[in-house]
Amino acid sequence: MCGVIGYVGAGATPSFFLNALRRLEYRGYDSAGIAMLTQDGVVIQRAEGKLSQLERKLDKLPATAKVGIGHTRWATHGKPTENNAHPHRSGPIVLLHNGIIENYRQLKEMLVVKGYEFLSETDTEVAAHLLHHEYKNLTSGTPEQRMREALRVVVRQLKGAFAFGIICLETPEVLYSAKLGSPLVIGQADGESFLASGITALVEHTRQFLVVEDGEIVVLKAGQIEIESFDGKPVVRPFSRVEWSVAMMEKGGYRHFMLKEIHEHPLAIAQTLSGRVQRDSGSINLADLGVGSLPLKTLKRVQIVACGTSFYAASLSKYFIESVARIPVEVDLASEYRYRASTVDENTLVVAVSQSGETADTLQAIKSARAAGAQTLAVVNVPGSTIAHACHAESLTKAGPEIGVASTKAFAAQLTALYLVGLALAQERETLNQAELRFYVDEFVKIPSLVEKCLGLSESIERLANRYHQLSSLLFIGRGPQWPVALEGSLKLKELSYIHAEAYAAGELKHGPIALIDENMSVVCLAPRDAYYEKTLSNIEEIKARGGRILAVGQENDAQLQELADDFIGIPECSEAILPFITTVPLHLFAYWIAVRKGTDVDQPRNLAKSVTVE
Ligand code: M6R
Repeated sequence: MCGVIGYVGAGATPSFFLNALRRLEYRGYDSAGIAMLTQDGVVIQRAEGKLSQLERKLDKLPATAKVGIGHTRWATHGKPTENNAHPHRSGPIVLLHNGIIENYRQLKEMLVVKGYEFLSETDTEVAAHLLHHEYKNLTSGTPEQRMREALRVVVRQLKGAFAFGIICLETPEVLYSAKLGSPLVIGQADGESFLASGITALVEHTRQFLVVEDGEIVVLKAGQIEIESFDGKPVVRPFSRVEWSVAMMEKGGYRHFMLKEIHEHPLAIAQTLSGRVQRDSGSINLADLGVGSLPLKTLKRVQIVACGTSFYAASLSKYFIESVARIPVEVDLASEYRYRASTVDENTLVVAVSQSGETADTLQAIKSARAAGAQTLAVVNVPGSTIAHACHAESLTKAGPEIGVASTKAFAAQLTALYLVGLALAQERETLNQAELRFYVDEFVKIPSLVEKCLGLSESIERLANRYHQLSSLLFIGRGPQWPVALEGSLKLKELSYIHAEAYAAGELKHGPIALIDENMSVVCLAPRDAYYEKTLSNIEEIKARGGRILAVGQENDAQLQELADDFIGIPECSEAILPFITTVPLHLFAYWIAVRKGTDVDQPRNLAKSVTVE
């Protein structure tokens, strides 16, 4: 969704703002803008489309400014035109916004009556005029005091979600913000202060960050930061250091972030395991995993809430957690869970899984579970994110920054963390004995090198993509844990290449989807040698008998499967326990190479955003 950045300090150039916005591109956007304030006034430049369009206008901005804001807009109200791009100006106020102002219609009617002219179709312009209106109405105090008071009055009138970047021409060395529901971090360096929608935008300038919480107003000056609650009470919170580096956010020689991130599966898994498993004792380090404070022994059930790829990682983990910890696990789409009457209590652990830690549906789902008395755990990739703050405990997936909109290495890390939660439950509840625990720990430690081996399939999958990229529709099937893998493979294919794809539990084929099978239908069949192998082979036979084309994924030495399939992807031998980590890799590569062959925007597929902070 939209990206917000802001700067106040000795001086920043137009390139500073553009580069910081580039670091937020992954969030998804369709227009952008920058405002820079100097003693000669404010200059605003905006452009429809990609940042390269805005880059063409950089020479129209001042060479340097002590205060400035920038924005990438993902259109919600009004088309992605230059006119609707942020920032918006009202008198001395220049404002940009991430989020949605739900009551903008009522506010707009009131402001129109008062004579404000609207130049855009956005909900955001309402906030600019409203702030101007309240500021103008205050007659006593310095301009900064009036701005603070006006902001307090405005935030109380707004319904919805917001993280603002605001400058006022009458306070030329101050930057303001307020947050409710949309992500916002502030950073501090020597004589400089920053705000942004995510730490990736600022890592090359500072590592000292503070996550702004809902209901807070922030006033930034050069190297000086003040936070207060919406009702004006000062808030003091320490900054924390983030160890992400600039190199982690570059393509590192790969053609796309997505390809780099697929190649980082092994690292993401290894880092998520590190410090959490003790090989000699075969035990799980609960404190390092972040679950040490939870009453694991007395829990009666587990619910997991998530969206998209995170939901598939959660669905996969259900098989594992139930088998090792002997506890019922329900997995829900967060967008559904938040509206259904759930029946949690203090013996229920509700786990929110989210790469970004900001997904609006997941956040609301976990908040409602916590309000209903459940124990809550966040499995997130971004340290200090909103979902982490909303939970009793936080277990980080250590995939590092994921820039490609399609989630790949984060999926591998989520699976790792969730499997570890399963082992932690099994250890505390004594549903596995020492030898069994040690077996799993030993198997987990092997995953990174097996995945590494699988990545060697990239070239052959690229060749395969040449035969599949022209298809208009594809099915994916799998049984048991390979069903969520199939779902993940089909989601990746459709979001990247815009090819229609659907995934089914293979046993469901005969209940309907088999009607789709003829010589024009190709089916990706996940058929590794696991407990379901024979049954999946029967499904493959059924597809073949109806003329369907088979692309099978199975162990590299499986001659029988190879014989049955039209195309075959051979994965390395491994134990059944860790198979999903391995079978996912060729599916991520398959979706990637098909998208490349089709020439779609791999890292930023159309209509998608990395961080879905609206409902
Ligand atoms: O940040 P989250 O993990 O909460 O995001 C959830 C989904 O929006 C995300 O996984 C989405 O489905 C991706 N585009 C999948 O590649």
